[in-house]
Amino acid sequence: MKSVRILCICLLTVSAVIGNEKCPGVTVNVSEESDVILPCSLSTNQNLEQKLFDWRKKAPTKQEVFMYDGGLHYNNGRPGQDEHFRGRVSHFPQELQFGNASIIIIRNTTVADSGVYTCDFPHLQPEQRFCIKLVVGAAPKPFVGILNISEDEALLKCEVRGASPKPKVEWRDSDGNILPAEEPQVSHTGERYDITLLTTVTRTNSSLFHCVATQEELGHVTRD
Ligand SMILES: *[C@@H]1O[C@H](CO)[C@@H](O)[C@H](O)[C@H]1NC(C)=O
Ligand SMILES: *[C@@H]1O[C@H](CO)[C@@H](O)[C@H](O)[C@H]1NC(C)=O
Ligand SMILES: *[C@@H]1O[C@H](CO)[C@@H](O)[C@H](O)[C@H]1NC(C)=O
Ligand SMILES: *[C@@H]1O[C@H](CO)[C@@H](O)[C@H](O)[C@H]1NC(C)=O
Ligand SMILES: *[C@@H]1O[C@H](CO)[C@@H](O)[C@H](O)[C@H]1NC(C)=O
Repeated sequence: MKSVRILCICLLTVSAVIGNEKCPGVTVNVSEESDVILPCSLSTNQNLEQKLFDWRKKAPTKQEVFMYDGGLHYNNGRPGQDEHFRGRVSHFPQELQFGNASIIIIRNTTVADSGVYTCDFPHLQPEQRFCIKLVVGAAPKPFVGILNISEDEALLKCEVRGASPKPKVEWRDSDGNILPAEEPQVSHTGERYDITLLTTVTRTNSSLFHCVATQEELGHVTRD
């Protein structure tokens, strides 16, 4: 009966492979500076108040995020939490009795929080582990400008700075058609991308041009 329930979780969610371990999990996407809940719940709903669970970040960096052991945890004296998460992570005490070990990362998620997190119950039989992939996106508005203008043509520049994950940047006309443009200039610092896209348009009275940045991972579209 128990194994059937666990199988259901696996079917409903994405399986992330971490190293050689398979770990049922989900992907959570948020934009920068928002709060996020990383879900972790036992299908058995067993009371966790006196149990141990440990949240770690596994990739791309290894960090101790939140450990709870029978009431003692990182927010009430237990040492060992990574500096990066200090004061930003908490659990839901009232949910523990229902087998819910979800945590919230509060305050100001940044692109650097992106990665794979694991939620472990090392003392349970059988031992349980869940994986959560967190994608923190930064979606700055594109900045547009006119580089050169003549009687019948204009050279337009669209600049997106510090976006993450890497967006697709396009010039479009007022009907939404994609305009031919030069090869985008892309540079990045860590996970953040700067993209510049130039296009030459013919000046017609009615034309309105937009620069559109799309981050498919986030289902996110920003435009000038
Ligand atoms: C676990 O608790 C969090 C915070 O209250 C809630 O958002 C989430 O839905 C709960 N998960 C389950 C499976 O009940
Ligand atoms: C959020 O973090 C950024 C840099 O990571 C900082 O500049 C900003 O002040 C922070 N905002 C809050 C509300 O803490
Ligand atoms: C602007 O465009 C005109 C005509 O296309 C060209 O002659 C001129 O060199 C351009 N100026 C700059 C600064 O690129
Ligand atoms: C553009 O403006 C010119 C004069 O201002 C006018 O003669 C012409 O019909 C206009 N074209 C369109 C497509 O509106
Ligand atoms: C979250 O992002 C991943 C790719 O990083 C994507 O496959 C998934 O569909 C997104 N999920 C949601 C709910 O937006």
